[in-house]
Amino acid sequence: MAALRDVHLPELVELVSLSVADLDPLLAEEIETWQQRFDWDFRPSADLLRRFLHIRSLYGYALRNGRSIQGYAYHVCEGRKGLIGDFYVGRQYSNNATEMMLLGAAVQGLMLAPGVHRIECQLLMLNAPASVQMPFQQFLRRHDRFFMVLDTRLVPDLPPRQTKVKVSFEPWSEKFKEDAAHVVTGAYRGHVDSDINDQYRTIPGARHFLMNIIQYPGCGKFSAAASVLAIDDNTGRVCGMCLSSLVSEKAGHITQLCVLPGMRGAKLGSELLRLALIALTNMGCTSVSLTVTCSNVDAIRLYESFGFKILSTFPALVWEGF
Ligand SMILES: CC(C)(COP(=O)(O)OP(=O)(O)OC[C@H]1O[C@@H](n2cnc3c(N)ncnc32)[C@H](O)[C@@H]1OP(=O)(O)O)[C@@H](O)C(=O)NCCC(=O)NCCS
Repeated sequence: MAALRDVHLPELVELVSLSVADLDPLLAEEIETWQQRFDWDFRPSADLLRRFLHIRSLYGYALRNGRSIQGYAYHVCEGRKGLIGDFYVGRQYSNNATEMMLLGAAVQGLMLAPGVHRIECQLLMLNAPASVQMPFQQFLRRHDRFFMVLDTRLVPDLPPRQTKVKVSFEPWSEKFKEDAAHVVTGAYRGHVDSDINDQYRTIPGARHFLMNIIQYPGCGKFSAAASVLAIDDNTGRVCGMCLSSLVSEKAGHITQLCVLPGMRGAKLGSELLRLALIALTNMGCTSVSLTVTCSNVDAIRLYESFGFKILSTFPALVWEGF
């Protein structure tokens, strides 16, 4: 049996106590991991984290052993909601115990934050299997999600869809933002994804969601040219959209695909996706990824019919009622 002194358990420290230099080696490894696993350039997100660290305004926790930082999770509070924005434990140190120690601290820290009644996170970098008990499980809802990828060599052969409703397709423009927020709210009413992200439930929330994906690098660099809206010819209003971003020089990402309930089943979703994929392919993307909740079988069927393949599964977690 190992003597107790041989077991090097990390200690928990607050991110505000760390400097950029402290976290930099781990961020460098995380950049490499995102690239290898998801063909995703994490550098813009890492730069944003460095900026907040530098002014001691990055909140959350890190695992420290001696001088080495082994993992970190940061959070932001938006009104009554706490969001765990990034979660990463270094390859060498990642095991169920270290991951749960860090996640437990992140969740507890938010539970104790005044006014926070709900916590959300999507943990793409979690390695622990689904069988591992999560912290504060009595307050937790878990929705597993797929990360799917498409090889864009398949895109030129995708047949154009004849939509059964009269619509025009237009690239994203700011003038559609308010309409788009209404479509998001309408499309996700009662949908599992509005349990994962409560911004989908209200118009101000949907506005905020759109602002985040357009302005911030978390979901890649928004591409207006590869984001397509369907405009109902009868009303002149947006009735569906497929929004895209670039997550590296040669990799695109679908950040949103949704169609108003009254317009479903008319091939709008398929045609919006096809047009966005053509635009991303023409911009030089060799792959396109997206994430989808495992229980969203209609959307998964749609993606698989395009040739998207499941690359990995990760959990979306929501704590409420604490
Ligand atoms: C997924 C979604 C965008 C598909 O849009 P759509 O315009 O209905 O799509 P299409 O008409 O091109 O049909 C695509 C597939 O959706 C499913 N579908 C068809 N009619 C449907 C309906 N009335 N309601 C729900 N799904 C339907 C079918 O599987 C269909 O494939 P098939 O025609 O080969 O059988 C739409 O259902 C939606 O907005 N859902 C809520 C938001 C969402 O889940 N987005 C994906 C998040 S990852």
